[in-house]
Amino acid sequence: MERSLVLIKPDAIQRGLTGEIITRLEKKGLKLVAIKMIHLDRSLAEKHYAIHEGKPFFKDLVSFITSSPIIAIVFQGDNVVNIIRRSMGETNPAESASGTIRGDYAISIEHNLIHGSDSSQNAAKEIGLFFSSGEILDYSRDIDRWT
Ligand code: RTP
Ligand code: MG
Repeated sequence: MERSLVLIKPDAIQRGLTGEIITRLEKKGLKLVAIKMIHLDRSLAEKHYAIHEGKPFFKDLVSFITSSPIIAIVFQGDNVVNIIRRSMGETNPAESASGTIRGDYAISIEHNLIHGSDSSQNAAKEIGLFFSSGEILDYSRDIDRWT
């Protein structure tokens, strides 16, 4: 069973798009197993985006993600990493198809509303930064046999 970390980024919170983004993923049928609102500090932001350290956009990325609260969510299910990446759209919203979250609601690459893990391995690392194992809930849903 795969897991993915989603972050509702500061721009989405400020623009009142939290409910819309969660609704889209929920309506897709994805199972939410952990959620919290936090204001990231620089240290955690740098760990989360460590793969981009040294790139020209790294400093601005860390400033942006620490600029206002975010919501961190863990989704769990078969193929959930890929399903969420496709629902998000491309990194650059200008290249994202309509029908995707970034394609429908964002314009700039700096303010692209949502983070989703890009692989199972990175998901496991990222989830470990944001959640303790006790904060990830194990429960069954009757709808799972219909989705
Ligand atoms: P994320 O990690 O936030 O879900 O986004 P992503 O996988 O689609 O994109 P990634 O390559 O991981 O980049 C992380 C964030 O850095 C900003 N970025 N700017 N100016 C640029 O060329 C550039 N490239 C990336 C974006 O805000 C991206 O979400
Ligand atoms: Mg990424």
